[in-house]
Amino acid sequence: MSKLIDTFDRVINYIRVSVTDRCNLHCKYCVDGSFGFIPHAEILSYEEILRFIRITARLGVKKVRLTGGEPLVRKGIGYLLGEINSIEGIEDVSLTTNGVFLGDKIEELKEAGLRRINISLDTMKKDRFAHITGVDAFDDVIRGIEKAVDAGLDPIKINTVIIKGFNDDEILQFVKAAKKWNHHVRFIEFMPFGDSTLWNSKDIITSRQIEDTIRTAFDLTPTLNQERGPARMFDIAGGSGKIGFISPVSTHICSECNRIRLTSGGMIRPCLFSDTEYNVKALLRGGQSDDEIRAFVKEVVRVKPEKKHEMGQIRKCQRSLQGIGG
Ligand code: 5AD
Repeated sequence: MSKLIDTFDRVINYIRVSVTDRCNLHCKYCVDGSFGFIPHAEILSYEEILRFIRITARLGVKKVRLTGGEPLVRKGIGYLLGEINSIEGIEDVSLTTNGVFLGDKIEELKEAGLRRINISLDTMKKDRFAHITGVDAFDDVIRGIEKAVDAGLDPIKINTVIIKGFNDDEILQFVKAAKKWNHHVRFIEFMPFGDSTLWNSKDIITSRQIEDTIRTAFDLTPTLNQERGPARMFDIAGGSGKIGFISPVSTHICSECNRIRLTSGGMIRPCLFSDTEYNVKALLRGGQSDDEIRAFVKEVVRVKPEKKHEMGQIRKCQRSLQGIGG
């Protein structure tokens, strides 16, 4: 079987699919100034998404993650998940959500075969949550996490973006929570996206700094059998949860990269840090055959950029993660 391999011999076996650019939250650091949503007719239909995944599964893609916007705001997400799960070759389907609607959707998701989940949560304080996201929904997220635990989803990964002056005073709080619950808390470096004025290279808090802060209060040991992926994981002495660091800004994780993205508007984005995107929707809607689309995807992967820009010359990407897909 032919595979998706780029010029640097990286094998692509993972796609992140944004199912919508809409989100029920408006996080201060993740907004597009434009704030125009893509019209419904321009968003890929579930049939188009499924066709794309079937085509890539035949090229060795094994793992799919649904993102957004907020994936749970799109109707029928359980249907999509279930259909993806039944595609030959797909071994793992997961979801990244802000958790607000998780409590309501958990049964639908579980029935569709969801086994694990990533939840974005940047603060443990109710008031601060409302301040950062513009919506007073902290309790809903906590309820969603509890429901996910009850439903047996495992692991539950909490993604936390640490931003100076926003939540950098809560680092130890998050580790305490990871220690007490059985979750993975992963600290993600704040990346330069969209037109948020919050990002400033001098203010970036690196994984190293976060780790140093944590080590003042907790004993960390590197987790044995690290999962493949960008996170460096640690066990916390005396607890069952784990913490991890995702360092897209301070380090190069590009040589390990095994993924491409499909945006909700039907563009393939081979590199998160490059604004170059390729219009596969035009082919999906243009009557092209699966073979023609397969050839297109192979070519797009082949020209995947080697790596992101160096720190000093890091350049803001035009769109926010809401537009690209997280
Ligand atoms: N830097 C790092 N993470 C970001 N996210 C959104 N914008 C940024 C950014 N500029 C995160 C969200 C969520 C995930 C989908 O992406 O908080 O955890």
